[in-house]
Amino acid sequence: MKPVKRVTVCGGGNAAHVAIPLLKNNGIAVKLYTPFSGEAKAFKKGASAGGITLVSDGSPPITGAPDTVTTDPQEAANADLILLLLPAFAHGSTLESLAPYLDKEVTIGAIPTRSGFELQAARHLDIHAGGQTIFCGQTLPWACRIIEQGRQVKVLGIKARVGMAAVPAAAAAELCSLLSRALNVNFVPMAGSLAASLGNVGQVIHPGIMFGLLKNYDGEVWSETEIPLFYQGVTEEIATLLENLSAEILQAAAMLTKRFNLDLSEVISIKQWLFDSYSASIEDKSSLARAFCTNHSYRGLKIPVVAVDKGFVPDFNSRYLTEDIPYGLLYSRAVAGLVGSPTPQMNKVIKAASSWIGKSYLGQDGSLTGPDIKEARIPQNYGINDPDRLVKVSEGI
Ligand code: NAI
Repeated sequence: MKPVKRVTVCGGGNAAHVAIPLLKNNGIAVKLYTPFSGEAKAFKKGASAGGITLVSDGSPPITGAPDTVTTDPQEAANADLILLLLPAFAHGSTLESLAPYLDKEVTIGAIPTRSGFELQAARHLDIHAGGQTIFCGQTLPWACRIIEQGRQVKVLGIKARVGMAAVPAAAAAELCSLLSRALNVNFVPMAGSLAASLGNVGQVIHPGIMFGLLKNYDGEVWSETEIPLFYQGVTEEIATLLENLSAEILQAAAMLTKRFNLDLSEVISIKQWLFDSYSASIEDKSSLARAFCTNHSYRGLKIPVVAVDKGFVPDFNSRYLTEDIPYGLLYSRAVAGLVGSPTPQMNKVIKAASSWIGKSYLGQDGSLTGPDIKEARIPQNYGINDPDRLVKVSEGI
């Protein structure tokens, strides 16, 4: 892999604000690419005032400014490594705009990737001909919020480890070591992008809990104190639903493993994920529901809401649904379909959640025939209609 001295950060949101000072303080030249001129203007103004300061409890602040801010994809593409720090719905248009200008040695990837990024990358880039290397970061390492655009960002928490897959898979170890140093994050290599896509836990937790908490929602308006807790609102019934969703993904992964002798051991159950990720902060591990409710890291986090006249109502446009269904659960539903693994729980959650976000992805019978299915990042939308092709494209063979 080419030495990484110049990084283009795509996106001007919370995550980009964190990455810029980190990269700069690690000696890397940074270009910021956003297609939005208003955002670019704010970054330029911030840079001329001294740059972005990253603050977090317990660590000294660090400051850094992008060397270049551009809305031009051709200029953005001229880098050693390109880092998409974007909501999943923006991955496609960003890859498409950069693709004509990328040279073969460039490394490009997304953090977080959600599911199926590798399929989209294979469509737009040249990753199967000894061309570009891609990477898929499993989750965003930071919980972060912009305090002042172009000037200050707060990191509220950082994950102890973040899985990262690559195509070609063998590049993951080197990329993890490089990006860990560049971003002060502990990236750990994963076996492949199929494992990263099926192992995306957000697809289970977010739509699953939203469905469990809101399936009987009747339009009531909550005062601020009445907004239900999200993770700590997980009942035994919701926990069972989460386990069932997770089991359907594991079943599809097991069928792929058996047929293709793949390593999908990183696709783990929701229970194992929660216990592994938060072992120190869970008080009561007697059940999955109790573990959610007594996990200190989740304390006080509420259902996403929007303000209305007299209070708050659920935010059905939350990324817990608008990202985690079309870029998450639908991917797994579609992969399960390719291997002939049944998905009754996924179908139930996808149908309800789709109606909340004004979409129809599934047909009456649960098939991938709803009018909006073309918008989902599923293998079938990339011309992949059998498991052999899925494995080939995902693993870059
Ligand atoms: P954000 O909402 O702050 O950033 C959005 C940025 O994406 C915009 O500033 C814009 O530059 C870009 N963008 C939006 N639409 C676009 C389009 N159509 N084309 C090109 N660019 C477009 O998001 P944030 O917070 O930086 O998060 C990035 C990802 O990480 C999201 O998927 C989010 O769900 C996830 N995440 C964020 C966390 C956080 O604490 N901020 C925590 C965990 C996950």
